[in-house]
Amino acid sequence: MKNILVTHATFSGSTVEVAEFVAKELIAQGFRASVMPVQDVSSLAGYDGVVIAAPMIMGWHRAASGFLKKNRNALKHIPFAVLITAMSLTQIGETSVDGAPVTVDAALAKPPAQPGRLSLRERYARVSNYVRPILAATRPSKPVSIGLFGGRLEYGRLKWWAVIFVMLIIKAPAGDRRNWPAIREWAAGVADEFEPESMKMRVPVMEVQPA
Ligand SMILES: Cc1cc2nc3c(=O)[nH]c(=O)nc-3n(C[C@H](O)[C@H](O)[C@H](O)COP(=O)(O)O)c2cc1C
Repeated sequence: MKNILVTHATFSGSTVEVAEFVAKELIAQGFRASVMPVQDVSSLAGYDGVVIAAPMIMGWHRAASGFLKKNRNALKHIPFAVLITAMSLTQIGETSVDGAPVTVDAALAKPPAQPGRLSLRERYARVSNYVRPILAATRPSKPVSIGLFGGRLEYGRLKWWAVIFVMLIIKAPAGDRRNWPAIREWAAGVADEFEPESMKMRVPVMEVQPA
């Protein structure tokens, strides 16, 4: 049975639940999956696939980016997928970034107020702006899939400076925007990527012997 690591970084805790949900979906698809924080992963030896889940926190969570850089060499030999949680995303039809396929949560992504003339905030929240630094951290390898999904924001849990950043720059209202059906669908697609063609169920062919 293939062994998948689902590792996560978090600021307020909600992405941990997303990582656990993805692991459950992988298990439902016939994989073995372990979930752990990026700081607890000492080696990728023994894993057949890796999912790294982390939120946008003024850039992708630093511990997750650090994890990718630290494991850059190992990730040349193991398929990996990246899951990003966020509260603000500009929809301008980006389905891949520099050749890496991206799935965007349709419930999160918003088209710009004036197409063709993005505001500073809309430019900041483009898929490519979020994803390019992640690709730089994994180069020369690319994730088999990148998923960008709504997260959870609760102002009461944040320090004052975080409240100011999120209110002024992200302009996101508080709430739980995690889109479980969309995450499940993405995880099922990742499971397909982790399963080599040769292992996929083949349609049995009946051999007919000549009489
Ligand atoms: C300090 C801070 C910075 C954030 N920066 C961004 C951002 O740049 N873009 C975005 O879309 N969401 C941003 N968010 C929203 C988080 O990505 C979102 O709330 C996420 O679900 C948090 O996940 P967590 O609960 O695992 O920490 C930010 C939230 C905080 C608190």
